[in-house]
Amino acid sequence: MEKINIAIDGPAGAGKSTIARLVANELDFVYVDTGAMYRAVTWSVLKADLRPDQEAEVVQVATRLDIRLVPGKDGQQVYVDGQEVTAAIRSAEVTGNVSRISQIPEVRRILTDKQKLLAADKGVVMDGRDIGSSVLPDAELKIFLTASVRIRAERRFKEIQDDRPEVTLEQLEQEIASRDRMDEQRETSPLVQAPDAVLLDTTEMSIAEVVERILELCRAKVGGK
Ligand code: C5P
Repeated sequence: MEKINIAIDGPAGAGKSTIARLVANELDFVYVDTGAMYRAVTWSVLKADLRPDQEAEVVQVATRLDIRLVPGKDGQQVYVDGQEVTAAIRSAEVTGNVSRISQIPEVRRILTDKQKLLAADKGVVMDGRDIGSSVLPDAELKIFLTASVRIRAERRFKEIQDDRPEVTLEQLEQEIASRDRMDEQRETSPLVQAPDAVLLDTTEMSIAEVVERILELCRAKVGGK
């Protein structure tokens, strides 16, 4: 298929990364998980014993970090300054702090510049919160993926039971709702559906159905080329 850019945005746990990766595989496009980039900065900030409110220091960390997203057999691997942090950036501590780090405008500017570069040659499926609205406003296809908070918490619950056996479904529901609130209410490029994005509510859709729907939309965009 002709190379286009596909932006997939939506709230936490809507299945963006799973879906984006599968769509990218089908089309032989590059998958870019921008949430992993905000998580990588957050991981580095915590490792340096800094707090999210130490903005100047946080920006310094974000400026000098070398973040690499490497496609692998079991999904994407994330490296920070050469160290593999794929699992570490999914910890409860990183998840609990990432929305505060991602509110800092200068951090967003630094990561947005990197993301634009990654998509410059097209053929990218990029997922996040502000891709269609701010990072790739010219993306040929924009999807806004959502699902009820309950179903998103249930999906997350199944995923993380091995890593956080003590967590309850109610706790996860609260964590997800609070992260959504922060992401939606921040001043710089908040989570929002771009006016030209296609809304897909996946509450009652299987992963395969969502992937097929997006592929159909792609084919319609490029006229079956
Ligand atoms: O996608 P994921 O849940 O891993 O993203 C983690 C956090 O990173 C989000 O809750 C949000 O605060 C931030 N993020 C963002 N903009 C993006 C992608 C992620 O602010 N494009």
